[in-house]
Amino acid sequence: MAQYDVIVIGSGPGGYVAAIRCAQLGLKTACVEGRETLGGTCLNVGCIPSKALLHATHQLHEAEHNFAKMGLKGKSPSVDWPQMQSYKQDTIDTNTKGIEFLFKKNKIDWLKGWGSIPEAGRVKVGDEVHEAKSIVIATGSDVATLPGVEIDEKVVVSSTGALALPKIPKKMVVIGAGVIGLEMGSVYARLGAEVQVVEFLDAITPGMDGEVQKTFQRILSKQGLGFTLGAAVQKVEATKTKAKVTYKLRKDDSEHTLDADVVLVATGRKPYTDGLGLDKLGVEMSDRGQIKTDDQWRTNVPGIYAIGDCIAGPMLAHKAEDEGMAAAEVIAGKHGHVNYGVIPGVIYTHPEVANVGQTEEQLKEAGRNYKVGKFSFMGNGRAKANFAADGFVKILADKDTDRILGAHIIGPMAGDLIHEICVAMEFGAAAQDLALTCHAHPTYSEAVREAALACGDGPIHM
Ligand code: FAD
Ligand code: NAI
Repeated sequence: MAQYDVIVIGSGPGGYVAAIRCAQLGLKTACVEGRETLGGTCLNVGCIPSKALLHATHQLHEAEHNFAKMGLKGKSPSVDWPQMQSYKQDTIDTNTKGIEFLFKKNKIDWLKGWGSIPEAGRVKVGDEVHEAKSIVIATGSDVATLPGVEIDEKVVVSSTGALALPKIPKKMVVIGAGVIGLEMGSVYARLGAEVQVVEFLDAITPGMDGEVQKTFQRILSKQGLGFTLGAAVQKVEATKTKAKVTYKLRKDDSEHTLDADVVLVATGRKPYTDGLGLDKLGVEMSDRGQIKTDDQWRTNVPGIYAIGDCIAGPMLAHKAEDEGMAAAEVIAGKHGHVNYGVIPGVIYTHPEVANVGQTEEQLKEAGRNYKVGKFSFMGNGRAKANFAADGFVKILADKDTDRILGAHIIGPMAGDLIHEICVAMEFGAAAQDLALTCHAHPTYSEAVREAALACGDGPIHM
């Protein structure tokens, strides 16, 4: 029986990061993974492949819409779908092999197969049982299905099927205007599909700042995505090549149908803990199927920890990674900390959308005394030069102390720009701290500074 200090189950961003940090802290570590490759949902069928397709199709969009304006004339590129798929696969492969390399470098054993926990201190993989002083469950999440909708990954697909369609559909219906729906909907709209997004609520990207939601929907509509909001999908009927989506409008209960070649079901994900044996172990679960932990990622069973998508909180790779690092520190007897108030969220459409901290709606509801500093990319020289001036930076700060409470960006490179605000928030900075920081010209980041200036005596370029 092999003996370890720590066995991590699952090699997604939560699990592989936890394993690496444990090894770096001198703990003998193994990681169990049932997939053929390391990296979890994120590297294999999530963040990485979706960003590859978003990148490739954004280049196409630029060539079709902006090249001629910049004096780059000629035939725009045609789409070689198999080649785009193989570019996507190469991107996955280099990333998953990168984790394999990091495991070897840190002397982490990859226990290949599906793991279960027959009792605290033991992990079974295939016929072998391994001993571990600590076990970290990082088994991630899976697609949440809808009643009346059967996913066949051919005509009715989840994000996994949508990343690998054999051909570009003419008509695609996307159920759910959340992150997956809008990212994958953008990919196929750019490739020429007629994309209709059906959303249960009355706004896209629920939970996001209201002003951003409206601007985002307007921009995506201009790019050709159609939206049916306030619509509850009843069922999807599929043949081998077509599907019919039936939905009811919530305002008047009227029933409607939409035809499609492909239907993408993007209505959320659920924690995945199948086969671990948690029931028998008596691990406490929430009514949403998440493993319950304390603020040090300990479950109620001594020696068993849980992190990432299978516990509470946003289902994001970087949240899982932060928990992985922090849980490892705790296991090694150090202090592990995650600031859940400063976890950025990014949607990698074009323009990108990014947020951190509180929305204006949340501040209103909490009765906070706040101020808004807003700056449009129309006033940013770099954005205008790059045909990327649609959108804005919005900073919310405490009216009395000027401390930054939240930020919402829709615009070019929003997913990168958000991080200077994250750092500022980590340091408890005031909007004025950002406003007094010299920002290079001409950069998109000047728009962040201008929004910070707008929290004080006013922006310069607006
Ligand atoms: P996972 O990445 O789900 O990894 C869990 C791993 O555990 C899996 O490999 C699984 O095979 C393995 N496993 C499960 N049970 C067992 C077992 N019993 N034995 C052995 N192995 C087991 N997040 C972002 O932050 N940015 C993005 O851009 C982004 N894009 C996404 C795009 C898509 C299409 C999807 C679906 C998700 C995206 N996400 C994104 C979310 C992100 O992928 C997840 O939040 C992240 O992967 C969670 O990490 P994790 O380590 O908790 O679990
Ligand atoms: P989501 O929770 O972001 O969006 C689901 C949407 O479906 C919501 O708008 C919801 O109101 C809607 N919906 C639910 N039931 C419906 C119904 N019956 N009919 C119509 N609409 C319905 O979930 P999504 O997009 O599936 O993503 C899952 C997770 O993956 C998210 O938690 C997200 O954090 C993560 N992810 C993150 C990405 C990123 O960070 N860029 C990219 C992709 C996924």
